[in-house]
Amino acid sequence: MNFYSLSLFPDMINECFNTSITGRAAQKGIISLTNINIRDFSNDKHLKVDDYPYGGGAGLVMRPDCVYGAFEHARTLIEKQSGKEAADKTRVVYMTPRGETFSHAKAQEFAKEDNLIILCGHYEGIDERVLEEIVTDNISIGDYVITGGEIAAVVVMDAVSRLVPEVLGNDTSAHTDSFADGLLEYPQYTRPEEFHGRKVPEVLLSGHHANVDKWRLEKAMELTRQVRPDLYEEYMRGKDEENE
Ligand code: ADE
Repeated sequence: MNFYSLSLFPDMINECFNTSITGRAAQKGIISLTNINIRDFSNDKHLKVDDYPYGGGAGLVMRPDCVYGAFEHARTLIEKQSGKEAADKTRVVYMTPRGETFSHAKAQEFAKEDNLIILCGHYEGIDERVLEEIVTDNISIGDYVITGGEIAAVVVMDAVSRLVPEVLGNDTSAHTDSFADGLLEYPQYTRPEEFHGRKVPEVLLSGHHANVDKWRLEKAMELTRQVRPDLYEEYMRGKDEENE
């Protein structure tokens, strides 16, 4: 999986991506990140990338020509590495509160791609014409507004990367953690056996794997029902359909 970020603040993305699990996977060559700075594609002598919105209003809008230049550069790099067909079919994900809400299912869909271009906006957004021309997926990380798309891009890249085979040391954890089966994850415990008077549940010390699995499923269901009744209902509907 090769990520290409188009942004005005590549350091924000780089720092996170190259730390911890994604950083290790990048060092091993399992995933990669190429940061393209949109400012490098400004024709303005002061390297301006934004301008006043037509029709008036607050804030500045990112110019379409600079964004398009950065996009073309990403495409050229992909074409050099993987060929024209791969470059033509590369999805361009625009991080925006106007997008579809990101989810585990979307992360799984993106994880099947070989290349992803991720576009990060700033200020009052990006000129609509370039978005119409290049964007294939509008993605939001939730119903709130953050100051730019960079942090959102890091969220998406992290969630996608951990589903790419071999990124997680222990391959099974991507299958057992929250959302993988439609439930939130059961609680975990480690040593010491007693902490501030709280004991590790007896069943986890029993060595009886079937009982441990049963307990974990019960806890996952209980937690999901309390915290995310919407997910719980969907899970139960799925189970009913399986039994029909
Ligand atoms: N940029 C600003 N807010 C955002 C959000 N909620 N999701 C994705 N990108 C954003």
